Amino acid sequence: MSRVTVIAHISDLHVTGDAARRSRICAVVDHVNARADGIDVLVVTGDITDDGTPAQNTEAAEILGAARVPTLVIPGNHDRRPEFSRALLAGAATDLPLNRSATVAGVLYLMCDSTIPGRDDGWLSDASLGWMESEIVAAGADTPVVVCFHHPPVTLGMPFMDGIRQIGEDRLADLIARHPNVVGSLCGHAHTGAVTTFAGRPLVIAPGVSATLKLPFEGEGIVDATQPAGIAFHQLDGFRLITHFRSVV
Ligand SMILES: [Fe+2]
Ligand SMILES: [Fe+2]
Repeated sequence: MSRVTVIAHISDLHVTGDAARRSRICAVVDHVNARADGIDVLVVTGDITDDGTPAQNTEAAEILGAARVPTLVIPGNHDRRPEFSRALLAGAATDLPLNRSATVAGVLYLMCDSTIPGRDDGWLSDASLGWMESEIVAAGADTPVVVCFHHPPVTLGMPFMDGIRQIGEDRLADLIARHPNVVGSLCGHAHTGAVTTFAGRPLVIAPGVSATLKLPFEGEGIVDATQPAGIAFHQLDGFRLITHFRSVV
């Protein structure tokens, strides 16, 4: 029997410097740490800071630095590449897409930067897609690949979010379709635990840590701050992704 990989997936922390926000995020990291022996990796799919300031990035690095499992991060539209690179990737300040790959317990994670500086919608550049393809090919067809980015490449029945989703998604769908070992895609941005398909594979949106966004029938306004923070736990059994959601009250 193949070994089951466990991925803790969180998103949209939106570190502001505010103490209440910090304690909400820390409770999520504590929830992961208390179960660290059973978790292979923590994936954080963007909007880690609220405004991308150096102070927010420093605080985010401190909070995520307390995670007791390998932690993989990508920026969202609220982050800024230069500050994010320095604080959260120990890299140089750069305006280029912050694409990274990591292999953990035999699984390849492609952490893809879908942000467009100065805009809220998303896009994977041709260079990013080319990098993804070369990474998948280099890993080989027997390696499960988990593709991670911030912006959902589909509509979700959420009018506000659907207007700032990832565009140019046909190119990404073609890439995934060429590689059967891509087990699925993980993203954030929509602040709602949700599951659908993309390119015939699972696409999972992590619940928001900072707040939840409403569906059209859930009342006035967009943000629901009364919902607890959430985590997605993905089990990867061979090439099959199984997702469980948890709230952190
Ligand atoms: Fe967000
Ligand atoms: Fe976002």
